[in-house]
Amino acid sequence: MIGIDKINFFTPNTYIDLVTLAKHRGIDPDKFTIGIGQAKMAVPTITQDTVSMGANAAFPILDKEDLNKIDLVVVGTETGIDESKSAASFIHQLLNIHPFAKAIEIKQACYGATAGLMMAQDFIKAHPGRKALVIGSDISRYGLKTSGEVTQGAGAIAMLVSENPRILALEDTSVSMTESIFDFWRPNYSDTAIVDGKFSNEAYINFFKTIWHEFSKQTELSFEDFKAFCFHLPYTKMGKKALLPLLENESDEIKELILHHYNLSTTYTRDIGNIYTGSLYLSLMSLLDSDAHSLKDNDLIGLFSYGSGAVGELFYGRLVKGFENHLLKKEHQTSLENRYALSIDEYETIFNKVLPKEDGIHPLSEAKFDNSLFYLSSITNHQRHYSKRQ
Ligand code: CAA
Repeated sequence: MIGIDKINFFTPNTYIDLVTLAKHRGIDPDKFTIGIGQAKMAVPTITQDTVSMGANAAFPILDKEDLNKIDLVVVGTETGIDESKSAASFIHQLLNIHPFAKAIEIKQACYGATAGLMMAQDFIKAHPGRKALVIGSDISRYGLKTSGEVTQGAGAIAMLVSENPRILALEDTSVSMTESIFDFWRPNYSDTAIVDGKFSNEAYINFFKTIWHEFSKQTELSFEDFKAFCFHLPYTKMGKKALLPLLENESDEIKELILHHYNLSTTYTRDIGNIYTGSLYLSLMSLLDSDAHSLKDNDLIGLFSYGSGAVGELFYGRLVKGFENHLLKKEHQTSLENRYALSIDEYETIFNKVLPKEDGIHPLSEAKFDNSLFYLSSITNHQRHYSKRQ
């Protein structure tokens, strides 16, 4: 048995309330809160990037033994901070993982962390007794006053993958699919993503439908075999749009159970926004932290990963006995409760403050809100330097 032994997320401690944003933009707030299904959106200060957020997500779940047993560190991201050096190499150092591990970065839009998880599963199979750290870390940016603005966000997830996992044991069969399309992409010269919004929704829905049919053929599993499905959630309504047409012919009981668990899986995303590579795993944490009494050991959970461009994968795992004792529910909820609500002015100022493309920068002096453990403290000699709060 190989799977997720520990799991955590990090999101910056600054956010914008989306009712406030809707009113300011002259949009009916119901469009954001009901039509899109989002309530709050994480907005990172300039001191948080893919590396610092990834380290902040991973640090709380790793003990000394883990640091000595992790031989593979994979960071999935589509908002990396260097075209050559991996975010994983920085994080490997910040976390003090032993020197004989390999640390790499993977890219395929929001699918990257899932590619990392699959790689970790194979790696542990080949190296029994060892561990792998998988991180998904991103800042989602479409731009102020764009139709994608309400679907931005920022955050990271970290998963420790090992034998005899204490949370979710992964099954071997999964179905993935690739098609080269332009639904969402970001050329190297752009700080914001380009998106064909309607087409991206259609592509996501079509990927889930096509993959589900192939998956149910290969595994001979149907909806009634699953307790819940978690989705990559660019916004909380997206997974439901893909799920509903496929539930049409199911009994009311099955439909109700799957949709009940779906709703529980969307709580964190509703208050954070799209965190790209980490999104699916944020949904999983949201579901597990919800204390759903209907969930018990051995239940099957389906997981649908989608990365524009596009790659999708449907895989599944079994809840492990006692999984509820290994979650960081309280810490997750406290971190969300203790965030600072930005005014519109603060939000727009922070959003526009991108790092200048020059050397000798000390972003710490720019960010009064950030109190995270790891943060970007300077860029000198064209090198990013991170600090850890004592
Ligand atoms: N009250 C209640 N609901 C309202 C409303 C109101 N006053 N006004 C509008 N709505 C509803 C609409 O009916 C619509 O509902 P349905 O989707 O169920 O039909 C919903 O609100 C959204 O309205 P629009 O379609 O008019 O919204 P939009 O054109 O402004 O764009 C969006 C929405 C396409 C999601 C846009 O925000 C966007 O492009 N986001 C980025 C791309 C994205 O997230 N794509 C998702 C799939 S791609 C992916 O998953 C990868 C990834 O992470 C990016």
